[in-house]
Amino acid sequence: MGKPAKIYLVGAGPGDPDLLTVKAQRLIQTADTVVYDRLVSREILNLIPDSVSRVYVGKVTNRHTLSQQEINALLVKLARKHQRVVRLKGGDPFIFGRGGEEALALARNGILFEVVPGITAAQACAAYAGIPLTHRGLARGVQFVTGHCKDNEALVLDPAALSDTGQTLVIYMGLAHLPQIVCDLVDAGRSADTPAAVIERGTTPRQRHIVTTLGELPQVVEQQTILSPAILIIGPVVTLAEELEWFMPWAQEVELKYA
Ligand SMILES: C[S@@+](CC[C@H](N)C(=O)[O-])C[C@H]1O[C@@H](n2cnc3c(N)ncnc32)[C@H](O)[C@@H]1O
Repeated sequence: MGKPAKIYLVGAGPGDPDLLTVKAQRLIQTADTVVYDRLVSREILNLIPDSVSRVYVGKVTNRHTLSQQEINALLVKLARKHQRVVRLKGGDPFIFGRGGEEALALARNGILFEVVPGITAAQACAAYAGIPLTHRGLARGVQFVTGHCKDNEALVLDPAALSDTGQTLVIYMGLAHLPQIVCDLVDAGRSADTPAAVIERGTTPRQRHIVTTLGELPQVVEQQTILSPAILIIGPVVTLAEELEWFMPWAQEVELKYA
C-alpha cells in the first residue's frame, strides 16, 4: 500500500509572492490539486504548475461559490481521490481563515493533514505601512479582532476587551460595519483622536495606506473609496508610519519602467 493521502492547509500570506514560506512554495509546486480562496494573489497562483489541477472556492461577503460546509466536504472528497491536496488560503489559515473548521472536518473523517502557517494580514500590512505593531513606550501588546460577524448579524464588540489603550488594535474585515465599530471603540474608552490607519491591498503593487484618526476613519474610508481587502490599525504606533514608510510600489514601478 502507498502512502496515505494528506491535505496541507497552507497560508499564502497577504499577496506579495515573496512572502510565501519556502514550505508553501514547495507544496504548491508538488501538489496534485490546489483548492484556493479569493484572497490568494494572481502572482501566487502563477507559481502553480499547469499540470496541477485547481479548484476555486472563493467567498465574497454574502456571495459564496461554496458554503463552508461544502468546502469541508470537498476537501474530504479530494483527499479520497488525490495523494497530495493543498488547501491554499490567504494570510494564515488559523487567523480568521476558518482553517480550524477545515482541520476539524479532516480530523473527524480520519484524514491526515498538516498546517503550514502563513504571514497574516495584520503583520504584513503593518510592516509594509511602516507601523510596528508593538513599540516600547507606545504599545505593549496587540489585539487582532474581526469586524465581521457570523451571517452578517449586528456586530457586538466587547468594550472591556478593547478599552486598553496600551494595546494596538488590528481589525480584520472592518469596512462593512466601520461607523458602528468606531462608535463602539469610543464608547469603550478609545479617544476619537487616537491615530488610525487603513491599509488596502497590503503588500501588493496596489497597496494604499492612509493615516488619520479613529473619529475620522469612516469619512476617510468613504472619501477615498477604500475597498476590501483592507485592514484597520488603531493606536499610537500608527504615528510612526510617516517616518518609517519604506514600501512605495508606485515609485518601484517608475524605477522599473525607467531602469
Ligand atoms: C477572511 S479574512 C482572512 C485573513 C487571513 N486568514 C489572514 O491571516 O490574513 C480577510 C480579511 O483579511 C484582511 N486582509 C487580507 N489580506 C489583506 C491585504 N492584502 N491587505 C489588507 N487587508 C487584508 C482584510 O481585512 C480582509 O477583509
